[in-house]
Amino acid sequence: MNGNVQAKKLAQELASGIVILLKACKKKWKYEELSEVEKSGLVPATLYFLVDGSKIIGSIHFRYQLNDYLEKYGGHIGYGIRPSERRKGYGKIMLGMLLDIIRRQAYKKILVTCDDTNIASIKTIESNGGKLENVIEEDGKMKRRYWIVLA
Ligand SMILES: CC(C)(COP(=O)(O)OP(=O)(O)OC[C@H]1O[C@@H](n2cnc3c(N)ncnc32)[C@H](O)[C@@H]1OP(=O)(O)O)[C@@H](O)C(=O)NCCC(=O)NCCS
Repeated sequence: MNGNVQAKKLAQELASGIVILLKACKKKWKYEELSEVEKSGLVPATLYFLVDGSKIIGSIHFRYQLNDYLEKYGGHIGYGIRPSERRKGYGKIMLGMLLDIIRRQAYKKILVTCDDTNIASIKTIESNGGKLENVIEEDGKMKRRYWIVLA
């Protein structure tokens, strides 16, 4: 099955609700909790799972804020697809689904980073509209920093 046919098939499955993003943490952060999290050097985040029935295909999390480290290296989002399900289009779809959720929360643009050698992640980000800002070094490794504008 070529990439386009597979993406179309996945889109149909999504429309029928077979593959869905499940929110793992429904907790709403109150202002006081946010400031506690900030003080600890961490930021609040929500973890989602991409599931097909009872099978977990991948996970993705969104960090609601950037601290100094995240602004430079980590970005707003982290994700992974289980090895047996990679290269089937799920990574692109999962990131796209999360972007739809974030767009509804009125975020204007988000930062996504990946290693300069991570071809799969580079393609996943770029196919979701990521525009490369720069490539910087972290501990001897080159890291790409992309912004995705949520118009
Ligand atoms: C990055 C990751 C989430 C991509 O998920 P995926 O479901 O395999 O990605 P997709 O099937 O949607 O493919 C996205 C694109 O990458 C390409 N691709 C995927 N794996 C690839 C590989 N190993 N080598 C080269 N290209 C690859 C696909 O062909 C596709 O390209 P296209 O846009 O030209 O069609 C997955 O590889 C992964 O979990 N990696 C380990 C964790 C990780 O690196 N997370 C990201 C940290 S920033």
